[in-house]
Amino acid sequence: MKFGIFLFITLTFSSVLCEKFRFDNYSLYKVTPNKNNHIDVLRELQNSELKFDFWNDPLPNAEHVLILSGPNEKEILENYLKKYDIKSEITINNVQEHLDKEVVDVYKRGEQRSMAWNSYYTLDGIYAWLDNLIAYYPNVVTEIVGGISYESRPIRGIKISHGPGRRAIFLEGGIHSREWISPATVNFITNELLSSDDEETKSAARDYDWYIFPVTNPDGYVWSHEQFRMWRKNRRPIGSTFGVDLNRNWNNNWLRFGSSTNPSSDNYAGPGPFSEPESRTLSSYIKSIGDKIDLYLSFHSFGQLLLIPFGNSTQPAANYHDAVNIGRRAMGALSVRYGTPYTTGNIAEAIYLATGGSIDWVKEFVQVPLVYCYELRDRTQYGFLLPPDQILPTSEETMDSILELIHQAKRFGYMNN
Ligand SMILES: *[C@@H]1O[C@H](CO)[C@@H](O)[C@H](O)[C@H]1NC(C)=O
Ligand SMILES: *[C@@H]1O[C@H](CO)[C@@H](O)[C@H](O)[C@H]1NC(C)=O
Ligand SMILES: [Zn+2]
Repeated sequence: MKFGIFLFITLTFSSVLCEKFRFDNYSLYKVTPNKNNHIDVLRELQNSELKFDFWNDPLPNAEHVLILSGPNEKEILENYLKKYDIKSEITINNVQEHLDKEVVDVYKRGEQRSMAWNSYYTLDGIYAWLDNLIAYYPNVVTEIVGGISYESRPIRGIKISHGPGRRAIFLEGGIHSREWISPATVNFITNELLSSDDEETKSAARDYDWYIFPVTNPDGYVWSHEQFRMWRKNRRPIGSTFGVDLNRNWNNNWLRFGSSTNPSSDNYAGPGPFSEPESRTLSSYIKSIGDKIDLYLSFHSFGQLLLIPFGNSTQPAANYHDAVNIGRRAMGALSVRYGTPYTTGNIAEAIYLATGGSIDWVKEFVQVPLVYCYELRDRTQYGFLLPPDQILPTSEETMDSILELIHQAKRFGYMNN
């Protein structure tokens, strides 16, 4: 029996190797629970020693669950699903082949126009692009540093401002490193704000100060490019394993729900609230400009959800009703271009009870009026491995929704300069 092998490979071995981990013959399964006991049965599998990599949790409302399996565990998985009569299909047969097609471009420093929207970029590429924007738009773009990572990388960003006295919008990308569509989408939004000819986009750029951080977990992002594509956490070493889930480490209801005390878990909340340099320094930065922020957006994948604070209860809290109404209208606008459906709700009702995330802290401790978390594309097919040809459509529809968020927020009495 191969009990524990998968866990060993993904969480321990991958943390220390120096050659890129290969996913030859790994497969991604889309599993469809449709009987009463299926959720329990899948939960049991998730919690078993087999440690399959569940990309979303088997929750009562889950239509599908994506499960990554190593080549040696596929038979065990398939037999288990068959035994309980659970339907499944393979959406990526050979993950390594899929990764080989995942374009990662080298960004050429000094060529302002050379970032393309059909490929992903490395951290160096993204930071070089920010340098170019700073040089190319000296009157509008300034460099900002939101904090520092465990391995001493700066959390770099830019501020777009067309003059003093404006209210601010904050964009937080890439806190979970394998969710590559997040930085890509944030970069697209940045580009639109600086170079679009669309009147509504131009006024959104002009009317607000934009604080933009495409990669708030730089160490994890580098690791996901250079060593292990499925990496989620930061890179703090803890005993023989690595990484704290930076979106469970913020100091609000820390460790209450949806987080783990086990350092090898992908949801490990860390030794204490704000134990991690990334979340601690970024939160201080946010606090330092907090009274200016009217809208805070955090970008994750996947699931096509727009989430609202809080994650500790399905009970509506604060201005939940306004936030949902504004959010639903914005998701209506998002769906116009390509028909992509989104679900809007608070974290607990739309996914699960989970605390220690950035948006809850920003809502509670910075009192930002409107705070949302996007779970970008897709829902049931590629999960974290969204193909590069979906970067542009994902980014375009997201931009549409942000313009509508601003429009609706104003109608509801928010975001008035
Ligand atoms: C993947 O599976 C194929 C077909 O079963 C096999 O020939 C090949 O050796 C496997 N590759 C690796 C790296 O395990
Ligand atoms: C959930 O957390 C928020 C923010 O910390 C708090 O105001 C609220 O009372 C909590 N709700 C419950 C049911 O614990
Ligand atoms: Zn995430």
